[in-house]
Amino acid sequence: MSAYHIQSLEEYFNQYRKSVEQPEVFWADLAANHFQWKAPWTEVLDWDFTKPEVYWFKNAKLNITENCIDRHLESKGDQTAILFEPNDPNEQAQHISYNALYQAVNKMANVLKDQGVKKGDRVCIYLPMIPELAYTVLACARIGAIHSVVFAGFSSTALATRINDCDARIVVTADGSFRGSKTIDLKGIVDEALEQCPQVNSVLVATRIKSKIHLETGRDHLLESLMSKASDNCPATVMDAEDPLFILYTSGSTGKPKGMVHSSGGYMVYTAYTFKNIFQYEEGDVYWCTADIGWITGHSYILYGPLANGATTIMFEGVPSYPDFGRFWEIVEKHKVNQFYTAPTAIRALARQGNEHVEKHDLSSLKVLGTVGEPINEEAWHWYDKTVGKGQAPIVDTWWQTETGGIMISPIPYATPTKPTFATLPFIGIQPALMDDEGQEIQGKQVSGKLCIKFPWPSMARTIWGNHQRYKDTYFSAFENKYFTGDGAIRDAVDYYRITGRVDDVIIVSGHNLGTAPIEDAINEHDLIAESAIVGVPHDIKGNALFGYVCLKDTEVRPDDAVIAKAINGLISEKIGPIAKLDHIVISPGLPKTRSGKIMRRILRKIACGEGDQLGDISTLLNPEVVAEIKEIVGR
Ligand code: WTA
Repeated sequence: MSAYHIQSLEEYFNQYRKSVEQPEVFWADLAANHFQWKAPWTEVLDWDFTKPEVYWFKNAKLNITENCIDRHLESKGDQTAILFEPNDPNEQAQHISYNALYQAVNKMANVLKDQGVKKGDRVCIYLPMIPELAYTVLACARIGAIHSVVFAGFSSTALATRINDCDARIVVTADGSFRGSKTIDLKGIVDEALEQCPQVNSVLVATRIKSKIHLETGRDHLLESLMSKASDNCPATVMDAEDPLFILYTSGSTGKPKGMVHSSGGYMVYTAYTFKNIFQYEEGDVYWCTADIGWITGHSYILYGPLANGATTIMFEGVPSYPDFGRFWEIVEKHKVNQFYTAPTAIRALARQGNEHVEKHDLSSLKVLGTVGEPINEEAWHWYDKTVGKGQAPIVDTWWQTETGGIMISPIPYATPTKPTFATLPFIGIQPALMDDEGQEIQGKQVSGKLCIKFPWPSMARTIWGNHQRYKDTYFSAFENKYFTGDGAIRDAVDYYRITGRVDDVIIVSGHNLGTAPIEDAINEHDLIAESAIVGVPHDIKGNALFGYVCLKDTEVRPDDAVIAKAINGLISEKIGPIAKLDHIVISPGLPKTRSGKIMRRILRKIACGEGDQLGDISTLLNPEVVAEIKEIVGR
């Protein structure tokens, strides 16, 4: 039996043991037998978590697009690679074959080259979920340019920050995007962002909503006309396994987003291998991940992982609620989806709509159901299992992160017995550890602690763009010689893991990671506001909602609370994006602080959650009196 396709629990344990006892032998075997390399590695793995430095498949050469596209042409050139399902159900779905994908990616690669893009240059991609997004990502990979996809729901300020952080000179965008019944003026947002990015000298604009847009002479070009003139032959650039493939930004505990850098070789091997096994993808299956390619889930499990396996992967432009809440199920039925991968927040929102939307559709094609992005609660898990999967399609609760590149803890369906709310067992090659506050690893079963990873895996991020020190400080300094995830977890009696949530200043709202610091920074820009603190409170659908405490500078002049609240959410939308808007805003007389001036978010969280009577000893605070005042205002 091939180690590439795990089909029983016994086989999982065998391969897992091998991957831990002889990681280099294990990964070399897998990489050599299932991928195309242009030159072999001289060393499988070289690593040192204290620096931290990690190299996989050292000196090997490859191009990931040859593995994702070219090598499938002979056997499945006519098979659908990407199945594009538009926002409007009346618009026809587009079946993009591997042949067609090859042509489009090559053309796009030549377009980028014509714009002067070279190996190592950064290309910022701000596109909706349309085929051009896939083409551009893969075209960058083809010529060795580093793509930096920015989710097209981010504001102009957030976009500008990301363009400037990696010094991108070119932006690929669209005239606009469709989102349910609305359209969004993407080009307008880009124009606004570029006022802060003077170095950008080229903007390529895909046509989607056919709106009237401003084209800056010399800088802006319509993509369609460039593509129509471009040659569909662009030889793949030879890349080192460790050359950066992409940058993807994620929130951190300071205002500036972290540009996680992923490299080519290890990322390819790991995303392909996890995709194959965690979704048990078989030839001819239709796989659908509902994420946006603007997030890591879309990078690894809409594009690279599926395509490296020659799969058919759906790209959905729309939203689950348009034209009604049956849309997901309609698509599953229409395309006979076999593997469906979504987020707990979507599951909860859909469950709330009742069962009739689901029951109207034939979902019997479903073989595997996946979830990712935040802890899934028991109720949502059972609804997904029973109502969507009819008890026939195992749920893979996949835990991982932008930083990890691929799925780290997950059942293997039809092999690992599932357990509601548990991500279950580490994937092959992954060595988790639970740590206590003293920095010691917690051994044994039925324990909880901070989740770390003890040994490198091929798809781990290699650094933070332009700031290796921050990479070290954030992930490798909390615990010696270990990668710290920022999550808490428990391990049960059979060594299953359950992720309990973030233990740092990141709050996950509807599956989006939001750092409290950037939101507070945005709020504090308001003229009347002195300081603020954000905490998360449980929310039935979003998982968490944001609850903000704000202190005014001059309490004598106090505009109406509703006016302040509106201004605050306006500022947040402008600086970050609507996803970070606050659900609750309390004008607070002060914020509880330690004597060293640190805001006690724990106290604020308890008050916001209605647990203000369980605060414990607050007498050591700098300003204990403020707590009672806040409790009274919040009134929970
Ligand atoms: C959380 C998404 C519980 C976790 C791929 C992690 C989860 C953060 C799960 C990363 C899960 C992701 N169960 N929590 N199955 N999957 N998380 O970078 O807190 O957007 O650290 O990557 O999401 O979010 P990111």
